[in-house]
Amino acid sequence: MREPKIRRLWSWTCSFLILAAGVGGFTALIVFVHPHEKVAISDANLTHFELAASQTTLFYNLSFTMKIHKYFHASYRDMEVDCYYNNKNFDSRKLGDLKLKAWRTRLLNLTSNGNSTIDLGSNGVSAFKRSNETGFFDLEIRLIGKRITYDENGDDDVKKLSYQCKLRLELVKSHNSTTQGNFKPVKCH
Ligand SMILES: *[C@@H]1O[C@H](CO)[C@@H](O)[C@H](O)[C@H]1NC(C)=O
Ligand SMILES: *[C@@H]1O[C@H](CO)[C@@H](O)[C@H](O)[C@H]1NC(C)=O
Ligand SMILES: *[C@@H]1O[C@H](CO)[C@@H](O)[C@H](O)[C@H]1NC(C)=O
Ligand SMILES: *[C@@H]1O[C@H](CO)[C@@H](O)[C@H](O)[C@H]1NC(C)=O
Ligand SMILES: *[C@@H]1O[C@H](CO)[C@@H](O)[C@H](O)[C@H]1NC(C)=O
Ligand SMILES: *[C@@H]1O[C@H](CO)[C@@H](O)[C@H](O)[C@H]1NC(C)=O
Repeated sequence: MREPKIRRLWSWTCSFLILAAGVGGFTALIVFVHPHEKVAISDANLTHFELAASQTTLFYNLSFTMKIHKYFHASYRDMEVDCYYNNKNFDSRKLGDLKLKAWRTRLLNLTSNGNSTIDLGSNGVSAFKRSNETGFFDLEIRLIGKRITYDENGDDDVKKLSYQCKLRLELVKSHNSTTQGNFKPVKCH
């Protein structure tokens, strides 16, 4: 009469082990597959974007808010934000070591304002002229740097990090324009 009891106990134990393995596997999967951070541009204003008559100097005034949400324990070194037009880098901002708290969001308000020597090529210049007529420019903001995590031995595990944010921005010169402030947040990949 004892046998069914033992069998039931055995089947419970098996169910428990299968469940535990499932939960463990799922947790491991989340840790490995889940991104370390989420990056987005939550706001941006382009108030000056002009190609000099020489076509080799770009004048710009771009301000934007970069939103970084960190999930896991890690530190960030040699961080840099680069601005691109037509795949040409026109401005860079070194952020150095970025201190972020896990599970928190940090907003970085950045301004890139000035002039830069640029070689757009004839295709780039044509693209610029077309955008100049519509008033919308395609810009790209990149966040690059190094993410340092610690493995089970406590050793540094350094990985290169790179995010690209593709923006289509309307050039708004006047401060009281109604189109300003209509920015839709852009996810970076
Ligand atoms: C750049 O644009 C911002 C508005 O986004 C403005 O406050 C600032 O004065 C401009 N800077 C220059 C030098 O024009
Ligand atoms: C963009 O301009 C609007 C209106 O002037 C302002 O409220 C907003 O803070 C600006 N955003 C950034 C990132 O400069
Ligand atoms: C950055 O700008 C946002 C609004 O666009 C503001 O809430 C935040 O406090 C600013 N952060 C800093 C560090 O100035
Ligand atoms: C371009 O920017 C530099 C500073 O980076 C400034 O000294 C120079 O006057 C600017 N050139 C023009 C034509 O505004
Ligand atoms: C861009 O448009 C402005 C007028 O809005 C014009 O003065 C300027 O020459 C144009 N620039 C180019 C490179 O086409
Ligand atoms: C900005 O606002 C002022 C008054 O508030 C107005 O006189 C001016 O024409 C406006 N500029 C534009 C470009 O809308």
